[in-house]
Amino acid sequence: MTRRKLIAGNWKMNNTVAEAVVLTQEISNRFENDWTDTVDVAICPPYVDLKPAHTVLEFDKQKIAIGAQNVYWEASGAYTGEISVAMLRDVGCTYCIVGHSERRTLFGETNEDVNKKVKALIENKVQPIHPIVCVGESLAVRDEGTYLDFVDKQVRAAFAGLDATDAAGCVVAYEPIWAIGTGRTATPEQAEEVCRAIRVTLGELFGDERADDMRVLYGGSMNEGNAELLLAQEDIDGGLIGGAALKAESFIAIVKAAL
Ligand code: 13P
Repeated sequence: MTRRKLIAGNWKMNNTVAEAVVLTQEISNRFENDWTDTVDVAICPPYVDLKPAHTVLEFDKQKIAIGAQNVYWEASGAYTGEISVAMLRDVGCTYCIVGHSERRTLFGETNEDVNKKVKALIENKVQPIHPIVCVGESLAVRDEGTYLDFVDKQVRAAFAGLDATDAAGCVVAYEPIWAIGTGRTATPEQAEEVCRAIRVTLGELFGDERADDMRVLYGGSMNEGNAELLLAQEDIDGGLIGGAALKAESFIAIVKAAL
C-alpha cells in the first residue's frame, strides 16, 4: 500500500481574483516543496480564480496543484454558464471536485450527472484531470442507520461503467453533510468506518489492488485541531477542507499534520 496523502482546499464561493492571489501567495510563502515527497496538496478556487492562482504557484515553482469545484461533461457548445474539461486543463487544473453535497442539494446534481462528469474528466488518458468524487449522507440518513448503504450506492453510481484502469487516479471524498460547515466533525472512528467501507466498495468494483491505491479523503469541519487524528486512520488518505482552507495558517497546519 503506497497511498500518498492528499490535502485539498475547497474554497467554495469565496475570494475575488485579488483575494485569491493574496491567499495563494500566503499559502505559497509557507509551503515547502519537499513536503510533496509525502503529501500532495491542491487548492480548488472558484473558476475565475483558477488561472490567477495557478500563475502565482507557477511563478513560485510550487508543487501545489490546482483543482476546480465543478465541470460540465460536454466538450463545447450551447451550454450557457458551463465550463468544459478542456477549459479546466487549459488553466492548469489537475483535480476537479465532483458531486459535492452542496451541488447535489442546492443545484439538483444527480448521481447520473456525477457519473457523466467523472467519465468526461478521465476520458483523456494522457492528461486526465483527477476527479475528487464527493459522497456522504445527511443527518436523517445517519440517524436512520442506513448510511453505509447510502454511501455505497453513491460510490457505485459515480463509477458506473468504469473499469480498474479508468479508476486509477480517481479520488473519493467522504463528506457527511451533517459535518460540513457545522463545526461538528465526524469522530475519527466514524470517519474511518465509512472510508473503510468505501474502499471495500471500490474493491468490489475494481479489485483489491486498485482499491488499495485509490485515495479516500475525509471532509467536514476538518481543522488544525482535529486533522492529525483523522489523518492517522488507516483508510483516511487526506482531507477535503472547506472553512479552514480559507486561511493560509490553518490550511498549512493541516498539510503539516499530513506529513
Ligand atoms: P468545511 O471544512 O467548511 O466543513 O467544508 C467541508 C467541505 O465541504 C469541503 O468540500
